[in-house]
Amino acid sequence: MSPVTAPVVQARRLAAGVFSVWIRQAGLAQKSKPGQFLNVRVLDGLDALLRRPISIADKQGDRLRLVFRTVGRGTEWLSRRRAGDSLDILGPLGRPAPTPTGKDVFLVGGGIGAAPLLFLCRRLAARNRLQVFLGARDKGHLILRREFRDTGSPVRIATDDGSAGQRGMVTELAEPVVKQARSPVVYACGPKPMLAELSRCLDPIPVLGFVEERMGCGTGICYCCALERKAGGYIRFCQDGPVVLLNEVKL
Ligand SMILES: Cc1cc2nc3c(=O)[nH]c(=O)nc-3n(C[C@H](O)[C@H](O)[C@H](O)COP(=O)(O)OP(=O)(O)OC[C@H]3O[C@@H](n4cnc5c(N)ncnc54)[C@H](O)[C@@H]3O)c2cc1C
Ligand code: FES
Repeated sequence: MSPVTAPVVQARRLAAGVFSVWIRQAGLAQKSKPGQFLNVRVLDGLDALLRRPISIADKQGDRLRLVFRTVGRGTEWLSRRRAGDSLDILGPLGRPAPTPTGKDVFLVGGGIGAAPLLFLCRRLAARNRLQVFLGARDKGHLILRREFRDTGSPVRIATDDGSAGQRGMVTELAEPVVKQARSPVVYACGPKPMLAELSRCLDPIPVLGFVEERMGCGTGICYCCALERKAGGYIRFCQDGPVVLLNEVKL
């Protein structure tokens, strides 16, 4: 797979430290599916050797959207891109998420974890009974709420401080609703403790989690992304994921 150049067509800030960048790349957009990610070259010199993985948050025609939180030099650099700049991108990488039909589907997103669930939501909304749960620290940190609602899916909110929706954790909001469904299909993306808690409280209901931990090459070569399986052995979540059955791995 060779990298491609993709012009930035729109860039804006969504919340404190959270940014949205739309790129145009027809070939990439055509191949991209929910659950996959792009490896973006950032900075120059040695820094550029290790690309930064960012999930595909949305797709419209030949455009793809990246939504990211700034945590270090790479994502800071990305947040300074403007319309007219270009990105050097490898992808799409990872396995597409499973896309069921006719099911009770629940999407549970914590913080920036809402981003990759939006693309999945668009794909699944028309073919399933879908409900979305979004959690954030406070109202100002909630992202993509309007976009999820525009898919026609009910969206429920939880914030730590109660400034929007129910006060408390998104896992507490989702748990009783999911447990009422006959054979629920659950997807989740968010911080590792949130994924671990959701998997624990819903057990034995399987949870398909988007793993966004640190990774290296992104293409199966370096083993930086090994996750231990409960049944023994390891998976590389850049290849076997990033969407994995949380019940089967040690988080
Ligand atoms: C498959 C995949 C998809 C991802 N999708 C998204 C996305 O859609 N939006 C988004 O905001 N982020 C996403 N991430 C995380 C993103 O790749 C990292 O935040 C980014 O690589 C950090 O680069 P940096 O140069 O800014 O920070 P660095 O300078 O590399 O690190 C700065 C700090 O951030 C921490 N950090 C670095 N990488 C991660 C990580 N993966 N998870 C948690 N903390 C980290 C480091 O420990 C360090 O403390 C994804 C990660 C993976 C593996
Ligand atoms: S990141 Fe290198 S093998 Fe997964």
